[in-house]
Amino acid sequence: MECEYKILLEKITDLLESRISLQQGGDAQTVGICEVCKCETPNIDYLLAGLKDKVIELWQAYKNYPIKVDYADRYVRAAYMLSYFPYYIHPIYHVLNVNRNSILDKIEELNVGFLGGGALPELVGLTKYVSIQKKNIININVTVFDSTTHWNTERSSVTEPLIKNYYPGNFKIESTIVNLWDKKISVSSTIKRLDVLVLQNTINEATDEGKEILKMNLIKIWNELAQGAIFIIIDLNYAEISSFINDLSQSIINKEILQELRKDSVTNALPRCYFIQDKLFDPSREEDGLYPRGGARSYWSIILKKG
Ligand SMILES: C[S@@+](CC[C@H](N)C(=O)[O-])C[C@H]1O[C@@H](n2cnc3c(N)ncnc32)[C@H](O)[C@@H]1O
Repeated sequence: MECEYKILLEKITDLLESRISLQQGGDAQTVGICEVCKCETPNIDYLLAGLKDKVIELWQAYKNYPIKVDYADRYVRAAYMLSYFPYYIHPIYHVLNVNRNSILDKIEELNVGFLGGGALPELVGLTKYVSIQKKNIININVTVFDSTTHWNTERSSVTEPLIKNYYPGNFKIESTIVNLWDKKISVSSTIKRLDVLVLQNTINEATDEGKEILKMNLIKIWNELAQGAIFIIIDLNYAEISSFINDLSQSIINKEILQELRKDSVTNALPRCYFIQDKLFDPSREEDGLYPRGGARSYWSIILKKG
């Protein structure tokens, strides 16, 4: 298995037309920081230094209300892939592992949908979990419901190679454009076929009014899910997220709560990458968001659709 950061860095730099070649072979000496790759071109220095401003832009966008992020900007997406994506892989792995006795058993094919999936770090976490804990699943059909097509590039060029690195089964990813905070949402018929529906790290992107519409739309989507389907919600550690999930759980019918709302810290299971640590982040500018996260603190809940 190849180092995930090596794949991530090489694929992202390819997308930005600034090819780098990482060679295995350094000495890993600093505890917690992977130093095994070497780079023979200076491109990586220029590229990561240039992306600092985009990491800061993202950090500021996520701190402000309402959140406005220009995901059409490929450099913004590259900054997301290097500074957020790695930390959003493991929460779903953790959530599934805690509930491993009750879900994803006895099926060979999994139909899974991701609301606001973006580049799908949660699919990386899910396939990683399946490849270790649920070897019965050999086919995964994925549908992403997102408001923009821009992430298609990162999904096919970065996320898919990351998954192929360790998931030996088949998977295919389809995407549907949907505005989750549009009052006139039309619920895709795909929802009826899903075994699992995931909503990760998307609630906060809605305004207060948008969150109310989102809640109504999630109830409509819930009503379309088949009996036995599982809805997994994972989102950031904010008070309004916990009340949103509580309200939603109370508002939906025909349910069994498999996992009551819970808050956990999920430590990043990968060592930090030397290149990202040294050339993208800057310990003296933590207040600008230029620091590696130790992991993600998330609220999460799992709800089963009953007949
Ligand atoms: C912070 S990203 C989270 C992406 C991914 N779930 C993760 O954990 O990394 C928020 C996602 O919500 C999507 N999004 C924003 N507004 C949306 C809307 N109105 N309807 C559907 N998706 C939306 C964005 O395109 C983006 O992919």
